[in-house]
Amino acid sequence: MKAVCFCSNDYLGLSNHSELKKAAIEAIQNFGVGGTGSRLISGTFSSHQELEREIAAWLGKQAALFFNSGFHAGVGILPAISENGVIFSDELNHACLIDGCRLSRAEVLIYKHQDMEHLEFLLKKIAPKSPAWIVSESLFSMEGEKADLKRLADLKKKYGIFLFLDEAHAVGVYGKNGGGLSEELGITESVDLVMGTFSKALGSCGGFVAGNKKVIDFIINKARSFIFTTASPPYLPVINKKALLMMKEMRSERKKLRKIAVEVRRLLSSRYAVKGDDSPIIPLILGESKLTLEFSKRLLLEGIWVQGIRPPTVPEGTSRLRLSLSLSHSSEDLNRLFSVLAGENEKV
Ligand SMILES: Cc1ncc(COP(=O)(O)O)c(C=O)c1O
Repeated sequence: MKAVCFCSNDYLGLSNHSELKKAAIEAIQNFGVGGTGSRLISGTFSSHQELEREIAAWLGKQAALFFNSGFHAGVGILPAISENGVIFSDELNHACLIDGCRLSRAEVLIYKHQDMEHLEFLLKKIAPKSPAWIVSESLFSMEGEKADLKRLADLKKKYGIFLFLDEAHAVGVYGKNGGGLSEELGITESVDLVMGTFSKALGSCGGFVAGNKKVIDFIINKARSFIFTTASPPYLPVINKKALLMMKEMRSERKKLRKIAVEVRRLLSSRYAVKGDDSPIIPLILGESKLTLEFSKRLLLEGIWVQGIRPPTVPEGTSRLRLSLSLSHSSEDLNRLFSVLAGENEKV
C-alpha cells in the first residue's frame, strides 16, 4: 500500500534532490567513503573545513564546527561550555539538550515552557555564576511554535549571561538566507552560540554550531561527542555545502512553504486544536496515546502517513499526530490530507 509521508523533516524537499545526489556520487569518487579516524586524529578532510568556513560565513559568526549529527552537537556542547556554571533550559527542549544538561557539571534550572516570567524568576534567584547560559530551541520540534527570541535576547542582556539557540527546525525555513528565526528577527548578534543540523530542511545529516572563535576552539578540545567518535565520511560535508548554497537561494520556496502552513492551519483549526502560526510542523494534540495510535493507523489505511508521538517524547496526556509539511508534497497530496482529516472528524 502506498501512503504519502506527512511526518518527515524534509521541509524543503531536498533529501532526494538530483543535484545533491550527483554531488554525493562525485564526492565519494574523490574522497572515498570513510572518515578513517576521529576529527582530531586522521578524520579532518578539506571538505569538513570548507563546510565549517561556509557555515560561519552564512551565520555571520567567526567560526563553526561540524558534528556527525545534531544530537552529537547538543549533547557534547552543553557539558563543554557550562562546567561549574549554570544552565537555564526550557522544559520542552530536545532530548539532546536535556542529555547535554544532564552530562554537564553545571547547575541546571528548568523553566516552564516559554514562560519568560518563570525564567526571569530563576535568573533573579540564582546569584550570578559563570558561565551561565540560557538554552532554548528556536522552533520547538514537537510544538511547531516559535520561542520568544526577543525576550530571551533581552533577558540574556539584562542579566549579562549567554544565549545558546538550537535552530534545528528553523534553518532553511526562516530568515532571508535560511539562517533560522534569529536571522528572521534580526537578533543574530544576541545569540552567542547557534546550533543546527543538516538533517531537517537541508535534507541530509550532520550537526553544527557557530559562534566566537575562542568558544569554538574550546568546544573542539572539550566536546566529547566531537572528540571521541570517528569523523563523518568526507563526502558528507560536500553534500552539505552544496545543500547549504542551494538552500540560501530558496527564498520563494521558504515563503511558499510557510504560506501553505498557514493555510493548512486555517483549514484544520475549525476541527482540531492546532498550535503555532506559519511553521511546517503542525501538531494535532489528541491527548491519549491509544487514541493517537488508532488515529494514526486509520490515516495510514487511507494513504496518509503521520506517526503518533507519545511520552516520553512529549509530556504525558499530550500525545499527538505531528503533521509536517514538505515542498515535495503536491497539491493532490494536500487535498487528500484535508479530505481524509475532514472524514476523520465526522467519525469522532
Ligand atoms: C530541536 C532538535 N535539536 C537537535 C536534533 C538532533 O538533530 P539530528 O537529527 O541531526 O541528530 C533534533 C532532531 O531530532 C531536534 O529536533
